[in-house]
Amino acid sequence: MSSVFRANLLSGQHAVITGAGSGINKRIAERFAMQGARISIIGRNAEKCAAAAAAIRAMGGEAAGFAADVRHADELGRAFQDAHAQFGPIDISIAGAAGNFVAEAAAMSSNGFRTVIDIDLIGTFNTFRAALPLLTPERANLLAISAVQSVLPTAAQAHVCAAKAGIDMLVRTLSIEWAGRGVRCNAIAPGPVADTEGMKRLAPDGEASWARLLDGIPMRRAAERDEIADLALFLCSGAASYINGTVIAIDGGQSNLGSLPFGDMLVDSLQAA
Ligand code: COA
Repeated sequence: MSSVFRANLLSGQHAVITGAGSGINKRIAERFAMQGARISIIGRNAEKCAAAAAAIRAMGGEAAGFAADVRHADELGRAFQDAHAQFGPIDISIAGAAGNFVAEAAAMSSNGFRTVIDIDLIGTFNTFRAALPLLTPERANLLAISAVQSVLPTAAQAHVCAAKAGIDMLVRTLSIEWAGRGVRCNAIAPGPVADTEGMKRLAPDGEASWARLLDGIPMRRAAERDEIADLALFLCSGAASYINGTVIAIDGGQSNLGSLPFGDMLVDSLQAA
């Protein structure tokens, strides 16, 4: 895995990452491990967490999986305690677990809306809250995974737009409340990322969906998972030591063009289904 960063940037640090059994968060976990961090992977599916941790160990890194659902604060708190017992004080905590489905608000139940708020927004709060008492004093980093939907109202994504906008404000608020404890709190807001579960859901008609989606992105391509991992690494490294309370878009310029092509494509895919 090549990197633009110097080697061992996170040497000796402990990073706890939720939702790291797959996708963007798994790549962040691998990237951080190759930079010397010990990695705790938390996710709903114990087998996926164990497999992701084993893959990191096979690459020569140090990692363990801990099963917990970010929606359940007590269960998540126990997973954080276990991670702390195994790898020590937490230097970095990344709230990556997320849920999504394509549905117009008129076809969504209250529980459907709440489910995504629960996983994304409450799950981010639960993650940071569980990490707080276990953080390394004076130099800890919290990172949330927001999305372009936090600033782009997008048809068939009302639940996600609301959850991700909430995450952005949570991060900005915690950056004020917790700065005195030596904690930096930031978020990254990706647009489409290739080879992820999210994009399978958001490009339901394969190539045809992708073509319409890319029309709404100035750079005319999706992000690679490595590009997201590199931004996460930068924000959690000493290179970003004065960056606190920011949400950094990593979307090829999508948030400057607007969301209409994306939302129209999603609504058309629902109507075709
Ligand atoms: N359209 C409308 N409503 C939907 C839906 C869809 N496509 N998919 C789920 N829902 C609703 C369900 O109907 C249910 O509401 P109800 O009880 O009123 O019927 C509610 O959402 C919860 O669904 P359920 O399947 O019980 O939730 P879950 O906790 O098992 O799964 C999800 C959570 C729905 C977010 C699921 O998509 C998931 O597990 N996602 C994780 C992976 C993922 O999304 N990754 C991409 C991240 S970007």
